[in-house]
Amino acid sequence: MTFIDKHNSGFNTRAIHAGQDLDPVYGAVVPPIHLSSTYAPEAIGKLRKGYDYGRGTNPTRDALQNQIAALETGNAETGFAYTFSSGLAAETALLMAACEPGDRVIVGNDVYGGTYRLLDKVLRPWKLEHQVVDMSNLDQVREALSAGKARMLWVETPTNPMMHVADIAALAELAREFDALLVVDNTFATPYLQLPLQLGADVVVHSTTKYMGGHSDTIGGAVVTENEELAQAVNFQQFAAGASNSPLDSYLVTRGLKTLGVRMDRHVSNATAIAEWLSEHPGVEAV
Ligand SMILES: Cc1ncc(COP(=O)(O)O)c(C=O)c1O
Repeated sequence: MTFIDKHNSGFNTRAIHAGQDLDPVYGAVVPPIHLSSTYAPEAIGKLRKGYDYGRGTNPTRDALQNQIAALETGNAETGFAYTFSSGLAAETALLMAACEPGDRVIVGNDVYGGTYRLLDKVLRPWKLEHQVVDMSNLDQVREALSAGKARMLWVETPTNPMMHVADIAALAELAREFDALLVVDNTFATPYLQLPLQLGADVVVHSTTKYMGGHSDTIGGAVVTENEELAQAVNFQQFAAGASNSPLDSYLVTRGLKTLGVRMDRHVSNATAIAEWLSEHPGVEAV
């Protein structure tokens, strides 16, 4: 049973109810933390409700994945989300799922340092090439795309920590023109403030460690897409490479997401107050 109108619900309703179906055994309204590593089959070769082994599938993780898909796609019906043991694990799974040796990734010049380190120190030795550009300069992005086939444009907006912003819709058009996938790291804006998939991005990645988790008590990541083929490849990485997140971490992010809207409102009003105060300050040149 679900409490949500799948086609017609607002952000906070989806945050609270999407993926949070009633527990069929006791009627718990909060998804239980299913710690079991293994699920007994109904009969030999017949899984019980699709569950088998917790690296691949887990009901608490499923609740979180459905909740995140409903928030990033803007409805509770479409899209696929897969969650991982860290933001970098999510990024690794996506890059392994979408790219192969010899491919090229064009990446923003001030993405999170760990993302750059992953591309430069882990994946470059495996022959995944990258080129760094200023994503706010569309001419520079076009030049990089024209210089040779790129599999992916990797954009973080706003960036951590410099808060630079890029035009997702314009980059999506460019990516389409050159047959590249547009990936947006939406960790800082969160789906409460920005929906990259609706602006034309192919994939969203998250460090759920940040605003989504919201309480500094869990490390995690997510990949979200409406592209079914890519979703299957990411799901396969989650299962086969094994960096899925734990049931407890899944629960903590699910709980955090339920208050994402009210927390982001407060972040916005606090940031606005500080920006206004600084812009009046005689010792400050630019805000
Ligand atoms: C924008 C952004 N993306 C990805 C990551 C990596 O996430 P994690 O630390 O959960 O691996 C971070 C971490 O700070 C981040 O700020």
